[in-house]
Amino acid sequence: MTTAQLSAEQATDAAAVALPGPVRLRRLRRTPALRDLVRETRLHPSMLVAPLFVCPGSGVREPISSMPGVARVSADIAAEDAERLAGLGGGGVILFGLPRTKDALGTEASADDGSIQDALRRIRAAALPLVTIADTCLCEYTDHGHCGPIGADGTVENDAALERLAATALSQARAGADIVAPSAMMDGQVAALRGALDAAGFSGTAIMAYAAKHASAFYGPFREAAGSAPAFGDRRGYQMDPANGREALREMALDAAEGADILLVKPALPGLDLIAAARARFDLPIAAYQVSGEYAMLRAAGERGWIDPRAATMEAVGAIVRAGAGIVITYAAAEIAGWLQEAR
Ligand code: PBG
Repeated sequence: MTTAQLSAEQATDAAAVALPGPVRLRRLRRTPALRDLVRETRLHPSMLVAPLFVCPGSGVREPISSMPGVARVSADIAAEDAERLAGLGGGGVILFGLPRTKDALGTEASADDGSIQDALRRIRAAALPLVTIADTCLCEYTDHGHCGPIGADGTVENDAALERLAATALSQARAGADIVAPSAMMDGQVAALRGALDAAGFSGTAIMAYAAKHASAFYGPFREAAGSAPAFGDRRGYQMDPANGREALREMALDAAEGADILLVKPALPGLDLIAAARARFDLPIAAYQVSGEYAMLRAAGERGWIDPRAATMEAVGAIVRAGAGIVITYAAAEIAGWLQEAR
């Protein structure tokens, strides 16, 4: 007789007989070795991607006050940082560029001699065993700080932005980016980039889509670092309302259909539900971005002695991986990779 054929009462009796004693989950928590053995989520340095802010010049390392441990670096120093991360087994770097000059169209974003492009060429020349990702956006390059050209109605003109984003991705691919990562939240940006890359012979350049990118207050320190705060208004006309999860899944489905190779959720800790939903729904690699504000909070509380910053950082990144991310972009990437080496 199967359980399905038992009456409810018999089933309860059978279960009671089958159980050898009270369940004691603490058995497997008894020693460090047991805990290691049954650990469900493990971090590996190869999952970690470090953001680098690349500025003009050479020999520059300029600390960012709201992000202790993070600096704006010139392309030569960026290549050194990438080499250090590669030495720690890190998975990749994602590059953000600061231009010499800003204008209404964000012209320098697609300049072949721009800071990101320069850094990409140097990193490629060093043949490091890590992945190079270029953030593809215009807000660091426009004088108004928005993610595309402003149209007659005073808002970002979607299709004009697509042209600029495609030109930017092409210059990044020419400079050797393995992956371009469009973060402007323009409709159709993945298809526009895929089309432009393929037409120019860069069918091997992958796209990591910032598909589910909320208009988040947690980007504050980044905007100081990249000098990309909007000069007027905000980004809520193109980035998503943080209240919306189903809409985030629509964005992800569209980006996947447009040819995205990797889907990214951002910010990470406030978006754990989306990471889990994305993992369950799509078979693409899922990445999550622990953004500047998430990092700044951990560092600030750590500096005040209110939390143990190392344990809290590992717990937060562990939670992001537990939720389903296989790739984590974090400002603590090199630090975590170092801790993981120590722990071995
Ligand atoms: C560019 C971009 C931003 C971030 C990543 N790409 C800023 C923004 O959208 O305002 C934020 C990353 C972070 O906060 O660490 N659009």
